[in-house]
Amino acid sequence: MTVERVGVSFEPELLSSFDAMLRERGYASRSEALRDLAREALSKRAVDEGNGKVMGTLTILYDHDASGLSHKLVHVQHEHHAEVMSTLHVHVDERNCLEVLLIKGERSEVKLLAERIRALKGVELGELVLVKA
Ligand code: NI
Ligand code: NI
Repeated sequence: MTVERVGVSFEPELLSSFDAMLRERGYASRSEALRDLAREALSKRAVDEGNGKVMGTLTILYDHDASGLSHKLVHVQHEHHAEVMSTLHVHVDERNCLEVLLIKGERSEVKLLAERIRALKGVELGELVLVKA
């Protein structure tokens, strides 16, 4: 495999923060770290763009005492029963719940489900992590 060399310019402050992160993560070289970042960005773009099947998780934090929220969350998930494979629910404290939804389906449907859940009043986080299925 042939490799191509590229030159990258950094502001000193950015470079020193970047180097500190590389040390923490145990990278042997800046090149390897930059290649990993490029791969990560490309794989993210492949998932974000176009159609096709994806799978992943939606992590939400919510206050179950917020008006009607528990009921609305169950309702939205039932409307998307084809996409929601499983949920994991943990009671964080007296009011707050952490829930991880395992989801799968057409990218547009999965994104719509995530948007609908994030839009509910009282839902925090709403971190969506997807891979191509
Ligand atoms: Ni149900
Ligand atoms: Ni709970």
